Amino acid sequence: MASVTSLSASVHQRLADALAAALPEAAAADPLLRRSDRADFQANGILALAKRAGTQPRELAERVLAAVDAPGLLADVEVSGPGFLNITVSDRAITENLAARAADPEGRLGVPFAEHPGITVIDYAQPNVAKEMHVGHLRSAVIGDAVVRMLEFTGETVVRRHHIGDWGTQFGMLIQYLVEHPHELDHKAPEAGGATGEEAMSNLDRLYKAARRLFDTDEEFKVRARRKVVDLQAGDPETLALWQKFVDESKLYFQSVFHKLDMEIHDADVVGESGYNSMLAETCRLLEESGVAVRSEGALCVFFDDIKGPDGKPVPLIVQKSDGGYGYAATDLSAVRDRVFALKANTLLYVVDARQALHFRMVFETARRAGWLNDDVSAVQLAFGTVLGKDGKPFKTRAGETVRLEDLLDEAIERATAVVREKNNEKVALSEDEIVTNGAHIGVGAVKYADLSTSAGRDYKFDLDQMVSLNGDTSVYIQYAYARIRSILRLSGDARSAAHPELALAAPERALGLHVDRFAETVAEAAAEFAPHKLAAYLYQLASLFTTFYAECQVLSEANPPEVVENRLFLCDTTARTLHQGMALLGIRTPDRL
Ligand code: ARG
Repeated sequence: MASVTSLSASVHQRLADALAAALPEAAAADPLLRRSDRADFQANGILALAKRAGTQPRELAERVLAAVDAPGLLADVEVSGPGFLNITVSDRAITENLAARAADPEGRLGVPFAEHPGITVIDYAQPNVAKEMHVGHLRSAVIGDAVVRMLEFTGETVVRRHHIGDWGTQFGMLIQYLVEHPHELDHKAPEAGGATGEEAMSNLDRLYKAARRLFDTDEEFKVRARRKVVDLQAGDPETLALWQKFVDESKLYFQSVFHKLDMEIHDADVVGESGYNSMLAETCRLLEESGVAVRSEGALCVFFDDIKGPDGKPVPLIVQKSDGGYGYAATDLSAVRDRVFALKANTLLYVVDARQALHFRMVFETARRAGWLNDDVSAVQLAFGTVLGKDGKPFKTRAGETVRLEDLLDEAIERATAVVREKNNEKVALSEDEIVTNGAHIGVGAVKYADLSTSAGRDYKFDLDQMVSLNGDTSVYIQYAYARIRSILRLSGDARSAAHPELALAAPERALGLHVDRFAETVAEAAAEFAPHKLAAYLYQLASLFTTFYAECQVLSEANPPEVVENRLFLCDTTARTLHQGMALLGIRTPDRL
């Protein structure tokens, strides 16, 4: 395995050794290594250790300093302040480490696999049948996709589950309407020029609104619709066939949005609420028999000490309603059983709106009481915040309706294409086709990056102007930095890229090199914490450090000795590969030429 020990891990190890030599009782202590502005790293752990050992911190720091033994790795170590150590690694170590990363035969840049990979079932990208998707569904899809990619990269086995809303009493009304208006969903297959995703959605939307209107105004229709719910739940084949039409039509629409998002969703992973129907009765029986759930006013409920409504009364999780119907909770509890016992998950991850946090808290606690979740199998909601409009209110059209996602993505692509077109010049000389393809990758990337670069739990403003800006923390900025490097590499002609560890490095080269070396630990941390924003922040900083390097250090200059050109090309190349890999983990493309 070609994993490369990062410089910070090496420095950490050497310091821990020195600490143990200087103070035997500190053998297992953490030197608390931090990045520092004064040097490459600062060790802050000596202060507390000295206090505990009853010695003077500066004196202990001096002893640690004397015990540090790492001639190749460290260029300088000095005691500072009340007892910190400032540590500077050698230029040679930086270049050698990057060379080891670049030489990784698997192309992983030396990023190690997780020590104890397991099976994660991730619930994401779960829109609702016969309803327009909204920006919340976009968040779930974008964040979920990035987390899947990061986890798989670290060696985790990932099972995707798209828990679409394809069940419930609203289908009675829809199906009954279709029975009475049988040609409403008829059209040719898309291959034969039939409905596109957008048309599918507008068909469904029209039908939904018409059915709703009837349902609200016509008492007899209401009765017929209610009867259809019963037929559906009883598994009546004709009713099911009509229901399936809605599901298929909706999937056509979902897939068109996912496709535009440059995201692959496989049909086999779409297991909607209906997929757990056969488990619901058993789930209730298990909960009732174990006493986890109790009957209360006819309903099967789970109570929690700490969950109370505004009136002070306990709010239960209702697993089965008093009329015998099952709802969202019974389905989710059945899904837990399926994921734990059939899919053998160690981790259940739910990428769902923070406004559903109470539901998941109750579901998880119930599953824990039932013994389905325990110390070995855990469940986490990766809760995301609300997408806001420029006015700071939840993102809606002026008329207060959900914004059509396809329109939104189209607009992002259109604006990005304009940016690409404007930046195009004789040097880049993109063809019209390339402008269009790149525009799509930049536009979709901008939307994804804006979502991924703030920590998921926070709300963020949907601001297309800012998203496609070339300045600031945007994917566009990162993509342009990447394309600039690729252009340098193309222009390098005969000059090759090769590491020269014997060369002294300029400050911007050191800063860039040290940051490239942090890629592995950043990916590990972002994956372990389900935190794509940490990777996004890393990549933005990498692009910025590259920009500084490029402004201050000539790469292809005749004035440079050949080995300096080679070493700088090597830095460029390794940076580009890191940017490319990092962006790929976020689900964002990096065009070669911009
Ligand atoms: N369909 C739901 C919605 O639109 C999200 C489903 C979340 N997943 C789950 N297992 N409950 O809000």
